[in-house]
Amino acid sequence: MKHKFLTTCLVFFALVTAQAQDLFVLGGELGNSSASCRQDIETIFPKLHKMGLNTVLVPAYWDLIEPVEGQFDFSLTDCVLETARANDLKVVFLWFGAWKNSMSCYAPAWFKLDTQRFPRAVTEQGKPLEIASCFSEAVFQADNKAFCAWWSHVAEMDKNVGTVSMLQIENEIGMLESARDHSAVANKIIKVEGWEKEYGKSIYTDEKFMAHHYAQYVERMAQSAKAIYEVPFYVNAAMNSRGRVPGEYPSAGPLAHLADIWKAAAPSLLLLAPDLYDSGFTDWVAQYAMENNQLFILEIKLQPNDGVRAMYVFGEHNALGISPFSIEDGSNEVTGAYDLLEQLKPIIIANRNKGTMHGLLFDQEVKERVIKDGKLILTARHNFTLPWDPRATDGSTWPEGGGIIIKLAENEYIVAGMGIVVEFKTNSELTPQSAELGEDGFALAGSSTEADSKKWKGARCGILSCDEVTIDNGEINFVRRLNGDQDHQGRHVRISVGEWKILHVKVYQYE
Ligand code: DGJ
Repeated sequence: MKHKFLTTCLVFFALVTAQAQDLFVLGGELGNSSASCRQDIETIFPKLHKMGLNTVLVPAYWDLIEPVEGQFDFSLTDCVLETARANDLKVVFLWFGAWKNSMSCYAPAWFKLDTQRFPRAVTEQGKPLEIASCFSEAVFQADNKAFCAWWSHVAEMDKNVGTVSMLQIENEIGMLESARDHSAVANKIIKVEGWEKEYGKSIYTDEKFMAHHYAQYVERMAQSAKAIYEVPFYVNAAMNSRGRVPGEYPSAGPLAHLADIWKAAAPSLLLLAPDLYDSGFTDWVAQYAMENNQLFILEIKLQPNDGVRAMYVFGEHNALGISPFSIEDGSNEVTGAYDLLEQLKPIIIANRNKGTMHGLLFDQEVKERVIKDGKLILTARHNFTLPWDPRATDGSTWPEGGGIIIKLAENEYIVAGMGIVVEFKTNSELTPQSAELGEDGFALAGSSTEADSKKWKGARCGILSCDEVTIDNGEINFVRRLNGDQDHQGRHVRISVGEWKILHVKVYQYE
C-alpha cells in the first residue's frame, strides 16, 4: 500500500516535471484588485497581449467566489478564461484563499466574523492577528471546500482547452508580528512534536515549526486540486530581506532557507517561487535556482530593467518564467525582451539544463563577465564599456544591459539581448603576448613593447560571420549582415543600449 502511494507520487512528480519543462511564461501579474470586475478584465487583457505577454497571472478571490457560505459565483473566472482565450493568453490562477501576504483579508465576511468557528493565530502576548490559524481543521475545511468547488468549475471550463497553465495556492503565506502562532492548540502541538527539544526554544525554531504546518496545509490543498485537475502547483514567498528576523518578515513562508521543510511536507508542489522587490536581484534568483527547485519568478517589481532581467534568468538559471507585478500599469518594460524570448523559445527549451546557455546582466558596477567555453573564452561586457556611445560618459546612470548566449554548436552561438558586447578569444590571446590596442584597434602607443618581440604561440579566434536574425518556429532567418564598423572589423559582436536584437554568430580559429 505504502509502495503504491510512493509510486503514484513519483509518477505524478515525473509527469508534472515533464510538463514543467515546456513551461515558458512571459508573464505579468495583475494588481490585486484588477480582476474584481468584468470591465477591468476586458480592458486590461488586450493591452497585455500587445505588450508581448503570453501569460497573465490572475487572482481568484475567495470573498467574491463564496460571498454567502455554500453559494458560489464563478462569473469572474469565466470572464478571465474567455477574455484570455480571445487575446491569446494563458492563465496562471492565484488562489487568494485563507492567506494573502500573511493575512486572511480575502476570507469572506461570514468567515471573518465567526472567530469562534474559524480561529486566528495569536501572538505570545495573546494579541489576535487577522491570520487564520493553520492548526484549525475548520479553517482548512472552509478554505478547501471553496477552493475545490472553484477548481472543479475551472476544470470543467478548461480541461479540454488548456488555457490554465499553473495554479498558485494561497499568496505569500507567512506569520507577521510573531514568528509563530501562540494559540493554546499551537502551543500543545509544538510540545507534542518536540520541536524545541530538537532545535531549542527560539524564533528560528518557531519559524521552522510554522513552515512545516503551513506546508502540510498546502499539501492537502494540492492533493485535493490534483484529484480534480492536474496542472503544476506552486507557492510564492515574500523575501526575508533587509536584515529582518522571523516575525518581522512573513516568516515560515516558502523561503530558500526553509526549502527542505517545505519540499518534504508539500511534495505535490512543483516549486517555491520568490517575489522580488528588493535590491540584490542576482543573489536572490541564485538562491531559488536549486537542484530540487526550478527558478520561476512569479512576481518582480515592474521596472524598465525587467526585460534584461528576463533574458538573464532564462539564460543563466534555466528559468521557467518571469512576471512583473501590476503589469497593467506598465507600457513597454518587457516588450522588447519578450519578443526575442518568444522567438527563442524552442531553442531555449531544447537547451534547458544542458550547460549550453548563459545569462548576462550588467550595470555600472558589474560591467564584465568572462565565460569559459571549451577552448574559447567569451568576454561579455556592458555596451557602455565601449567609448563610442556618448551616453556612456555623460554622467547619467547606465541602464542595465543584458541578454543570453546560447551555444548552438562548436563555434556557433546565438547572442541576444540589449546593451551588450561580446568578444571571443582563445587562451593564447588572453595571455599578454602583444601590445595593447586603442579603441580604433590600432596600437595604443608608437613603440613596440617587450611582449611584441617574443615569438607568438597558439591559435587566435576570429569572427566568421555575425548576422542579425529573426527566429520562426526554431528556424533562423537572416535579416542583415553586421560587419565592418558594426563588429569592430571582426573583433566583437554587440547590441546597443536601447536596441533588442538576436545575433547569429559563427567564429573560427586561425594560426
Ligand atoms: C507581493 C504580493 O504577493 C502581491 O500580491 C502584492 O501585494 C505585492 N507584494 C505588493 O504590492
